[in-house]
Amino acid sequence: MAKSKTRYVCQGCGASYVKWMGKCENCSEWNTLVEQVVEDEKAVKSALKKAEKSGRKLEVESVNEIRADRYGERYGTGFSDLDVVLGGGILPGAVMLLAGQPGIGKSTLLLQLASKVAEKQAVLYVSGEESASQVKIRAERLKGKHSEDLSFAGSTSANDIAATVASGDYGFVIVDSIQTLALDEITSAPGTVSQVSGAGNLLIRAAKATGTAVVIVGHVTKEGTLAGPKTLEHMVDVVLQFEGDRYGGFKTVRAVKNRFGSTNEVAIFEMGSSGLKLVENPSEALLRERQNTDGSVIMATMDGTRPLLVEIQALVNPTSFGYPKRTASGFDLNRLNLLVAVLEKRTKLKLSEKDIYVNVVGGLKLSDSAADLAVCMAIASASAGRRLDDKIVVFGEVGLGGEIRSVYASDRRIAEAKKLGFTAAIAPYTVKDKFVLPVKDMRDALVKYMNR
Ligand code: TYD
Ligand code: MG
Repeated sequence: MAKSKTRYVCQGCGASYVKWMGKCENCSEWNTLVEQVVEDEKAVKSALKKAEKSGRKLEVESVNEIRADRYGERYGTGFSDLDVVLGGGILPGAVMLLAGQPGIGKSTLLLQLASKVAEKQAVLYVSGEESASQVKIRAERLKGKHSEDLSFAGSTSANDIAATVASGDYGFVIVDSIQTLALDEITSAPGTVSQVSGAGNLLIRAAKATGTAVVIVGHVTKEGTLAGPKTLEHMVDVVLQFEGDRYGGFKTVRAVKNRFGSTNEVAIFEMGSSGLKLVENPSEALLRERQNTDGSVIMATMDGTRPLLVEIQALVNPTSFGYPKRTASGFDLNRLNLLVAVLEKRTKLKLSEKDIYVNVVGGLKLSDSAADLAVCMAIASASAGRRLDDKIVVFGEVGLGGEIRSVYASDRRIAEAKKLGFTAAIAPYTVKDKFVLPVKDMRDALVKYMNR
């Protein structure tokens, strides 16, 4: 018999190579290639031949006659905002992936969720990472009442877990985490492409067959992408991303993929001594400790469909080593460099020999283009040592010509600012509202409002 062939498969993206390399050419990750046995072509061909004959014609149903609630109705998680993120609660039969960095609070959130759901459903929490007593300690810390219908099992066997899901005994199953699972039939280590996608597949099939809702925990790498294969993200129904500071600050859960809902919503949490709590009024909480110094600007941003006021801070110092340093926390560094260039070119600010630091308070990450104007004004304020009026919020996109461009949902940004007692908004001149101090370009904004 011929020696079985092996190939080197990237654990990040799934690309395969004949030779081992230090870096995957496809996704540019280092040290991700792992040797795997490939089945020889003849065997695959004959298997395909067999498969061709063994198939049967599908039984079909009319779409009109299919019942949407075949497995029952959606139910709540106990966190109203998280229900919104999911598209109206947990859908029976849905498989959800909760991705986040170690220590952010995935296990905590799911245990809280589990004890809530257990009031109405039989819930099983399977952990491959923690022992029963460790989970018990956490459950005690969370203080909630734990119903009889919340069960625990420690296991890393994908076969056993899938069989348990397939038994249909539980309405809701949590699997913590996919990276610890292994299938008996696959020899590679837990966390590898074949194990993760194999285990994922098995769980999904069991969930769909019985209408069990399943949450799978997934760890992410330092860069914030899900460890292991992308394929898992394609297979599941919902991908939830849990982000934020590990220590203090806000943590956000948003759906980056949702087959049964929108991906615009976000739930904002805070970790306390007895678990995670929804932040009821994030804008107010974010502004509570604000001190109006130079370099501080309040921005009206949108997190999906939800308006939010955040403080943007800038610090501008003379460069001491000849090469100016630019640092951004919570804001894209490339975008910062671009805005600094626009400021230099279109206004009288001299920034070429200045170190510039920009920080978004509260550990939030802004991807809203309306942050441009606020970042520019914060830099200008820090650089000139002038302050912006206390009661003014800022939003608007900045173009390369220094022009201020309109952004979406101006009305909701303005409404949020009014709600929190602000008196005006520096905004693109296209926004027609009495609340707005209209600006056309960067210079206009600085000359008119950076005056104290
Ligand atoms: P954990 O949920 O284990 O994170 P993950 O599963 O994502 O790795 O815990 C996150 C952190 O939260 C942990 O360092 C301890 C802390 N924590 C609290 O501050 N309060 C609490 O009530 C609990 C349960 C945890
Ligand atoms: Mg955990």
